[in-house]
Amino acid sequence: MLLKSTFQIKNRFKCTIRVWRTIHNLSVPDGKTYINGKWVAAKSGKTFPVLNPANGEIVANVPDCGDEETNEAVDGCYDAFKTWKNTTAKERAGFLRNMFELQMKNSKSLAHIITLEGGKTLAESVGEITYGASFFEWFSEEARRIYGDIVPSPFKNRQLFFFREPIGVAGIITPWNFPNAMITRKVAAALAAGCTCVIKPAEDTPLSALAIAQLAEEANIPPGVINVITTSRNNTPSVGKRLCEHTKVATISFTGSTAVGKLLFEQSASTVKRVSLELGGNAPFIVFNSADVSKAVTGAMASKFRNSGQTCVCTNRILVQEKIHDDFVAALAKAMQNQLKVGEGLKPDVTTGPLINENAVRKVERHVQDALQKGANLILGGKIHSCGKTFFEPTLLTNLKKDMLISKEETFGPVAAVMKFSSEEEAIEIANSTRSGLSGYFYSEDISQIWRVAKALEVGMIGVNEGIFSCAEAAFGGVKESGLGREGSRYGIDEYVQIKYMCLGGLD
Ligand code: SIN
Repeated sequence: MLLKSTFQIKNRFKCTIRVWRTIHNLSVPDGKTYINGKWVAAKSGKTFPVLNPANGEIVANVPDCGDEETNEAVDGCYDAFKTWKNTTAKERAGFLRNMFELQMKNSKSLAHIITLEGGKTLAESVGEITYGASFFEWFSEEARRIYGDIVPSPFKNRQLFFFREPIGVAGIITPWNFPNAMITRKVAAALAAGCTCVIKPAEDTPLSALAIAQLAEEANIPPGVINVITTSRNNTPSVGKRLCEHTKVATISFTGSTAVGKLLFEQSASTVKRVSLELGGNAPFIVFNSADVSKAVTGAMASKFRNSGQTCVCTNRILVQEKIHDDFVAALAKAMQNQLKVGEGLKPDVTTGPLINENAVRKVERHVQDALQKGANLILGGKIHSCGKTFFEPTLLTNLKKDMLISKEETFGPVAAVMKFSSEEEAIEIANSTRSGLSGYFYSEDISQIWRVAKALEVGMIGVNEGIFSCAEAAFGGVKESGLGREGSRYGIDEYVQIKYMCLGGLD
């Protein structure tokens, strides 16, 4: 192991830190981040604590970096790009394959880190590590398929070529809800294309990013190719701005809220930067009369309660056609009561961990209160869970209306809110009546209806009779205000390459 633990253990936090150290055979040092191939502290010496959302204990302390460290990382990353872009595709494929294998080899430790810093259940964290590793695997294979074109020329003495070349340094700004996979989805594509990266992980979950940096070091990825800038909530806006406005950063890839995405987009305009954005959703989940109700309930459980309702593609509004409405609600209530167990993510039988922090709980509470005040019916849950102030009861509401906050904004919590509709046209109108367009789901056994509705929904991704569609092969991304560009799939590489046209003349 390259690095030894140097945690500043305070007695008060000894228990958590001991857990962190024993499970964490990756040994990322406390108070250090990874810039230009070195583990370094912030210039100011300042750190900020990473809290376990389940109990508020400090898991580790990480450097509170600012503009100075960001500039240093970008400079080193820019230099590293000059060499990395000239590696062969086969070499880059080999590095990425190593990353895949190292991530799978360390999956237990990496999953444990996710649960400690992000709160999700261990089973889901293990799933995230496999999902995250699949991007290294997929892009190790795609790296060798970044082809250009030879185009028929209109002139006899000229030949036209299009090259797809790496765009440069990528600024990668990632969220807390998938602290591993949202990094690997971007970094694997960037590295495959020949780009180098500066990662700015979410303030709540920087440890998974540091663990990825350590894997990169073990995989012998050259210094400067992957850098991590850890920042507190206070420093985050200025580091984000620095990355967007830096002339040596060629592209920004961000996953997170629509509000922050719009700000980064604006900030990137000054340098006319490539920007790819995967932003918030407000996913409709439509159950038509023709649906198999039991399959629809299984899908709703998966798409609503994954990560305690904290994914961008989580169902937000459940629309059920009137004939089957009552049967669906009864079956969903039963499934929620029988299948969901709230508690700390490290406990084996828990399905629903804490939300990321108390602010997140307050938002969920506000949405539920607003719905109840405007006439929703409370079937299950509705308040903070007895497990603690970051836990929320799995909640089922009916009589959702268009003017309620849940209809308008992403709730990001374990609240299933059901609205009754009568016709297919009405369901499509309701589903599309939002500026978000990330994902949508519907259940129908009528093939003509499946075709019509799939075409009519204004979203980037659709699950038809399926509640979970994420995989490395999926073209992940939204339309309208839910984003720009695609991640994963064969399109993921496009975010990190630019086309160079060459006209070779004088061929008489
Ligand atoms: C997200 O919540 O942003 C990503 C979810 C996924 O990749 O399935």
